Amino acid sequence: MNENTVAFIGAGNMARCLIAALVKQGYPAENIIASNRNAAKLATLAKDFGIQVTEDNVHAAQVADVIVLAVKPQLMAEVCQAMLAGAPEIHEKLFVTVAAGLPVSRYREWLGDIRIVRAMPNTPAQIGLGVTGLYPSQCSNYEKSFVDQLFSGCGRNVWLDDEAQINHIIAVSGSAPAYFFYFMQAMQQQAETLGFSSEDAKAMVAQTALGAATLAAQSDLSFADLRAEVTSKGGTTHEAIETFRARELEQTVAAAMQAAIARAEAMASTL
Ligand SMILES: NC(=O)c1ccc[n+]([C@@H]2O[C@H](COP(=O)([O-])OP(=O)(O)OC[C@H]3O[C@@H](n4cnc5c(N)ncnc54)[C@H](OP(=O)(O)O)[C@@H]3O)[C@@H](O)[C@H]2O)c1
Repeated sequence: MNENTVAFIGAGNMARCLIAALVKQGYPAENIIASNRNAAKLATLAKDFGIQVTEDNVHAAQVADVIVLAVKPQLMAEVCQAMLAGAPEIHEKLFVTVAAGLPVSRYREWLGDIRIVRAMPNTPAQIGLGVTGLYPSQCSNYEKSFVDQLFSGCGRNVWLDDEAQINHIIAVSGSAPAYFFYFMQAMQQQAETLGFSSEDAKAMVAQTALGAATLAAQSDLSFADLRAEVTSKGGTTHEAIETFRARELEQTVAAAMQAAIARAEAMASTL
């Protein structure tokens, strides 16, 4: 699979993250090409990873076997149509898109009846601890394996059977790092109110989150059982948990996740 040339169209944060993960897992740098309208970003990528770079999207698409679309969603139509106009044969290639909100049907309007995977990574991908939702359309098993490999250095992949689940994965993992950051921010604020320095408060909260997440990921127990193990009736943790429960934490989380899905659906209809 490593003989496939992968072109990244748009070399911003997400492309950099994917390129870093690919190179780290031993993918040949000479088989990766990044295209961007900003030459400074390309120079940094070439220096950091030894990949090929170009300011010509059409050239990148022509030399690639797999074309990863990594520009902002609002620029996608223009970028795809210009590539197809410059090289009509590219509609035969495998496309992967990381753009939020755009359904497969839109890419087919711009590029023809292409084979495509919609990918929804999250930001911990940059340290190999992300979750990526992947929805394939008209792809072979070989192509799915290749895309699985493409994202495996970013963390865990979840293949989806239904395109609507892309919006669900946005709520479950795409947007979710921010939920945890928000919770940690609230804890840090209260720790500071209790007299800890900002630095100590942040370090304690981050370490506790890391410890809890690592314990949960490594354990066969459910989240509920893990919580019960450290919550003795009448104890301090029990008091804290009952306070969350009385203030309807579970309903608040459900409402927030539904709001993320509703926003993703609304964005898809305006793009
Ligand atoms: N970042 C995330 O956490 C995340 C998560 C999931 C999905 N995504 C998706 O990933 C995509 C990229 O997001 P990002 O955060 O990486 O954005 P970004 O950092 O702004 O990267 C986009 C890149 O595309 C370049 N570009 C714009 N127009 C171009 C053109 N015509 N030809 C070639 N390159 C062009 C931009 O160049 P300039 O520097 O000149 O503007 C920029 O370097 C988006 O569709 C987003 O929805 C991102």
